[in-house]
Amino acid sequence: MKNSVLLWSFGMLCLLLCVSCESGKEKDPVEERVSRLLSQMTLEEKLGQMEQITGGGYADYIVNQIKGGGIGSILNEVNPEVINRLQKTAVEESRLGIPILFGRDVIHGFKTIFPVPLGQAASWNPQLVEAGARVSAVEASSAGIRWTFAPMLDIGRDQRWGRIVEGFGEDPLLTSALGCAMVKGLQGERLNDPSSVAACVKHFAGYGAAEGGRDYNTAVISEEQLRNVYLPPFKAAIDAGAATLMVSFNEINGIPNSGNRYLLQDILRKEWQFNGVIVSDWNSIGEMVSHGYAESLADAAEKALLAGVDMDMENHVYRQHLTSPVKSGKVKEAVIDEAVRRILRLKIQLGLFENPYTPTEQPVFYTKESLDKAKKVAVESAVLLKNENNLLPLNNTIKSIAVIGPMADAPHDQLGTWVFDGEKAHTVTPLATLREEYGSTLKINYAPGLNFSRDKDKKQFAQAIAAAKASDVVLFFAGEEAILSGEAHSRADISLPGAQKELLTEVAQTGKPVVLIVIAGRTTEIYEQLPLVNAYLFSFHPGTMGGPALVDLIFGKAVPSGKLPVTYPKMVGQSPIYYNHKNTGRPPAGKIETIDEIPLEAGQVSLGNTSHYLDAGKDPLFPFGYGLSYTTFQYDDLKLSAQEIGKNEQLLASCTVTNTGTVEGAEIVQLYIRDWAGSVTRPVKELKAFDKISLKPGESATVSFILTADDLKFWNNKNQQLLETGDFTLWIGPNSAEGLEGRFRTKN
Ligand code: BGC
Repeated sequence: MKNSVLLWSFGMLCLLLCVSCESGKEKDPVEERVSRLLSQMTLEEKLGQMEQITGGGYADYIVNQIKGGGIGSILNEVNPEVINRLQKTAVEESRLGIPILFGRDVIHGFKTIFPVPLGQAASWNPQLVEAGARVSAVEASSAGIRWTFAPMLDIGRDQRWGRIVEGFGEDPLLTSALGCAMVKGLQGERLNDPSSVAACVKHFAGYGAAEGGRDYNTAVISEEQLRNVYLPPFKAAIDAGAATLMVSFNEINGIPNSGNRYLLQDILRKEWQFNGVIVSDWNSIGEMVSHGYAESLADAAEKALLAGVDMDMENHVYRQHLTSPVKSGKVKEAVIDEAVRRILRLKIQLGLFENPYTPTEQPVFYTKESLDKAKKVAVESAVLLKNENNLLPLNNTIKSIAVIGPMADAPHDQLGTWVFDGEKAHTVTPLATLREEYGSTLKINYAPGLNFSRDKDKKQFAQAIAAAKASDVVLFFAGEEAILSGEAHSRADISLPGAQKELLTEVAQTGKPVVLIVIAGRTTEIYEQLPLVNAYLFSFHPGTMGGPALVDLIFGKAVPSGKLPVTYPKMVGQSPIYYNHKNTGRPPAGKIETIDEIPLEAGQVSLGNTSHYLDAGKDPLFPFGYGLSYTTFQYDDLKLSAQEIGKNEQLLASCTVTNTGTVEGAEIVQLYIRDWAGSVTRPVKELKAFDKISLKPGESATVSFILTADDLKFWNNKNQQLLETGDFTLWIGPNSAEGLEGRFRTKN
C-alpha cells in the first residue's frame, strides 16, 4: 500500500511536471502553432517539409510536388514573379497551406557585390561587414529570398584551398567577430521583418582543414584544435542568433559531418542548445555512401536524420527513404517531428505565414547608398604591402600612367566567386574609373598585355611595354579570375597564373616605377616578383565598386587601412601556414641555415637545427595582421592594470597610439597573448582583441582592452575548458609580429 501511494505520488508529480512544462510550451504562441500544424500532418507532408529542391521555374513537377505538400524549401529560384506563383500554390493549393522558404547563396552581395568575405575580413571592421550584409538582405529579400547560406565560418590556414576566399581567414576571434556581424546584418532586428534573411552558418565543421587544401577532403582534427580553433566562430554566431546551420561535405576524424552525431547532437544540440534548422550541404547526405560511411542512400538518410540533419538539400533521400523505416518502427516518427518542428518554427519566425509573398514592384537593387557602402568596404579591404619611397599615393608630378594587366578591366572577374545575381554591367573597373576621373588630366596608356589571368599568349606584350615606356608610372593590375578560387577551385600553384609573371618582369625591366595591384581570391605567391615592383597593393576580389575604391587609394583620396586576415606565404610549399601555430620542441630562432650555406657533402646533422624550410626559412612573406598606410603609427606606453589575474577577474591593457605621419589614417590595433606553458601546448600567439581607430596627423589615442579570465581559457583533449595558472606575455601592436610587450600571470 505504502509503495503504491509512493508510486502514485511519483506518477502524479511527473504528470504535473509534464502538464506544467507542456503548458509552458503552449504559452508560446509560436510553439503552439507549430504543434497544431504538426498534429495535422501526414508522414509524407512532414518529409516534404524536410525536402529542399533546386528551382526550375513554375514547372509541373515542382507545382505538383508543392500541391502534395512535398517541398519545404526551394533554392536558386530568384524570379520574384515565379516565387510568388509557387508560393500561392503552396499557400492556397496544398492541404495545410504551409509556405515555402526560398533560399539562395548570397555570399557577399545579391546584386550589389561587396568584396569577397576574405576581403571583408581584411577591413577588420564588424560595423562595415554588418552594413554590407544588411544591403545584401534588403536586395535579396526584395526578390523573395528569405534564407541564405552565409556566413561561411570555416577557419582557413591554407591558401591552396579555393574556399578560403569565402571565409574570414585564419583566426578564430576575427572570424567570430565578423561572422556575428554578418549574421546581424542579414537577419536584421527581427526575423519577421520582410527585409530579414535567415543566416546559415557553414560548413560545420572543420571543412577548412581539408588535407593539402584539396576541397572536400578529409580532415583530422584533435579535440583541442576543434574546440580552440574551428568551433568558436560557430558558437559565437549561434549565440548571436544565427537561425540555421549547414553541415560540411567532408569527414573529420573518420566520420562524415552529415552523419556526425558527436558534432550535431552532442555539441550543437546538447552543449550549445542550438535549436535552429540544420541543413545538409548539396547532396552531402548521399555522399556518405562515397565516403564509405553508409551502405546505401537509405542508410545515409537514416544516419543523417539520426545525427540531426533536419533538411535534405537537393539529395531527395529523406523523401525517398525515410517512410519505410518510420513505418516499420526502426526510426521513431518523433525524430522526424523534431526536425519538422524546427523548420516550421523558422517559417513562423520569418513571418512567412502572414506575409508569404514578395512585393513585385521594382526591387531595391544598386541604390546609391548600397554602392557607396560597397565602395567603402572595398577601400577598407585593400591591403598595402609595399610602398618604396612612398610611391603611393601618386602625386601631381605624374602626368601619364600606363595601365597594364588582365585585371585592370575585368568586370566579371573583380566580382569574385559565388556571384549568381550581380551583373558585370554594373561593375566599375579600375580602368573605367581612371578614364572617368583622370582621363582629362592624365594621359592614360592602356595596354593590358594579356586578356585574362590565365592568358599565356604574349603577342600583346610589346604594346604593354611601349605603354610603360611612354608613361611616368605603371599601374599593373594582376591577379586571378573569379573562377580560380571558391568551391572546388583549389590550386597547387598559387602564383600569378598565365604569362603574368613574364609580363610583369618585362614591364619592370623598362625601369619605370611599377605599382602592382593584385586582385585575387587568395594571397597569391609573389615572392619572386616583389623586388621588381615599387609598391604592392593587394585586393581580394573587391566587387562591384572595386574600381573606384582602388583608384581612390592609388591617388590618395582614401588611405589604406586593411590588414591581412591570413598569413601571406612566401612560397606555396609553406602551406598550411598560420600565425597561431605551436612552438615545437625546436622552434626556429636566431640565424637560420639556408640551402645555399650547406657545405657540399655535409655530413648528416640535426643538432642545432630547427623547424623550418631550407629554402623558405621560417617566416611568411607578410605576417597575419600586417598592412601599411600612407601615414605611420607609433605605439607607446603599454600599461597593464595588474600583474596577476584570478578566476573572476579582469585585466585592463592599454597603450597610446599616435599618428606620426602627415595624413589622417585608420589603424587596426591588435592585442595578442601567449600562454607559456599548459597541460596542452598553447600557440605562440593568439589574437584576443582588436580595435580600429582613426587618427589625424599628430593625434594620439589611448586604446584599452579588457581581458577576462575567460579569454585565457583553453580546451584540452578531454572536453574540458581550463584556466591554468602560469605566465603570459601580452602584446599590443600593429600586426602579429610586432608590438609592445608586457607580462602577467594567472593565479588561482
Ligand atoms: C556549397 C554550399 C552552398 C550550397 C548551395 C554547395 O555546393 O558547398 O556552400 O551553400 O552548395 O548552393
